[in-house]
Amino acid sequence: MNTLVFGGGFLGRRLAREMPGATLSEVDVTDRIAVADAIHGARAEVVINAAGKTGRPNVDWCETHQEATWRSNVLGALTLAEASREADAHMLHIGSGCVFYGPSPSPGGWREDDPANPISYYSRTKYATDLLLAPMAHTAVVRIRMPVDGAMNPRNLITKLAGYARVIDVENSVTFVDDLVHVIGELAARRATGVFHVTNPGTLRHRDLLARYANRVDPSHRCEFIEEEELVSLGLAAAPRSNCLLASPRLAALGITMRPVAAALDEVMGQYALDFRSRSSA
Ligand SMILES: NC(=O)c1ccc[n+]([C@@H]2O[C@H](COP(=O)([O-])OP(=O)(O)OC[C@H]3O[C@@H](n4cnc5c(N)ncnc54)[C@H](OP(=O)(O)O)[C@@H]3O)[C@@H](O)[C@H]2O)c1
Repeated sequence: MNTLVFGGGFLGRRLAREMPGATLSEVDVTDRIAVADAIHGARAEVVINAAGKTGRPNVDWCETHQEATWRSNVLGALTLAEASREADAHMLHIGSGCVFYGPSPSPGGWREDDPANPISYYSRTKYATDLLLAPMAHTAVVRIRMPVDGAMNPRNLITKLAGYARVIDVENSVTFVDDLVHVIGELAARRATGVFHVTNPGTLRHRDLLARYANRVDPSHRCEFIEEEELVSLGLAAAPRSNCLLASPRLAALGITMRPVAAALDEVMGQYALDFRSRSSA
């Protein structure tokens, strides 16, 4: 299956490397002609949108760079959707569970069709795009949460949390990147449409992740745990962060499974420890 991945960041590079038949395009996704040429040139049957402004050093950047953010996250996604339709390609767009803030309206986590309540500018652009793409006949929105991976990367939740001196201890749904690669392949093969919550079964508390990190990776790791509200009041973040639990009934209905969080974390923390040691000794 010829697959063209747009966006040369953390997830786009990984998907292009590991999905059979996939290649990477780093053209500007708001450039209609460049996008159409890339899809045509790759004879793409499946298009994956992993391009978007996520902010450097973090998502607060999007609060102060709103035009760049909506251009990439909304206009770029629509440009890809239109070009995919014209080329008769199926499109999978990487969305985010950060469109949900706080407890879900019904027990078990936020469901795919629950109306969202985004607060930050970044999360508003992600939700705006979800609303536009979800009804299309040739697109699926793959909402993920806090990617966790065995390799060190500033976008990896393990690397992020281990780097903070002060951390909020919250419970979240998370997405292990190896599982994401597998699920995207399954959704592409089925030409799935609509919104999917792609998070591993179970939840993860920041405190538990860091305890495992200190145990397996770096025994000298120390941090201070603070209250969620202190993140903004202490000036550590400009906009409140989304913390939430997701339910994935639509993935389950297709019979697509992901590893439980506990088992995946055990395996991935072992991989992370190896990467940490090889970089420390290099
Ligand atoms: N990592 C997470 O925590 C997370 C969680 C949920 C959802 N997601 C979503 O997953 C997708 C991929 O994120 P990621 O973690 O791989 O982030 P990333 O490492 O920041 O990758 C995004 C890539 O897209 C590029 N990009 C931005 N605007 C573009 C444009 N107009 N045309 C082409 N490329 C453009 C970025 O380049 P520049 O850096 O030069 O702008 C970057 O290389 C994003 O849509 C993000 O919203 C990520």
